[in-house]
Amino acid sequence: MPHSPLLTEFKTLFKAQGKPILDLACGSGRNGLYLHEQGFPVHFSDKNSEALLTLQAEHSISTEQCFYADFELGEKVLKAESYQAIIVFRYLHRPLMEEIKAALVPGGLIIYETFTTENRQFGRPNRDAFLLQPNELNTIFSNWSCLHYFEGIKHNPDRAIAQIVCQKPFIE
Ligand SMILES: C[S@@+](CC[C@H](N)C(=O)[O-])C[C@H]1O[C@@H](n2cnc3c(N)ncnc32)[C@H](O)[C@@H]1O
Repeated sequence: MPHSPLLTEFKTLFKAQGKPILDLACGSGRNGLYLHEQGFPVHFSDKNSEALLTLQAEHSISTEQCFYADFELGEKVLKAESYQAIIVFRYLHRPLMEEIKAALVPGGLIIYETFTTENRQFGRPNRDAFLLQPNELNTIFSNWSCLHYFEGIKHNPDRAIAQIVCQKPFIE
């Protein structure tokens, strides 16, 4: 699967220096790898340690850029104001949202895309816990500066998703 076109579209918002971008629940790292190849500092995190090892073995990603984390244990994993941007694709764990927000620097960027309840017509995931409700992503980041929002159906492959690109307020 190629990287998300959202990253190409909003690439100019990332900084080549300074705090890293986190590809949270990165899987194969397709999105973070694209940004890494563009020269941005990227960290990768997932509970799939094999995927992290593959990133290191096959893509010249250093051990310092990868960390194993299970984000669903209820333990705080992300340090406050540690990232210039966090990208999350095809992963949802609602209790983590506040930690994600806090982990961004003021003015930091979030790019979030995952499936909505409409996606059930196309297949998995099926559980409510993994599917966004209508307008949910917009509501979660309602007081952030929104640069892009999409909710609906995309094709090739068919999927129902919501996408948001937004910036954390400097003063909350
Ligand atoms: C559908 S994949 C998406 C991978 C990647 N973001 C992408 O879009 O290509 C979901 C990822 O979430 C990771 N994941 C699931 N539960 C997790 C948890 N509790 N903590 C950390 N990662 C988790 C899985 O290991 C998997 O890599």
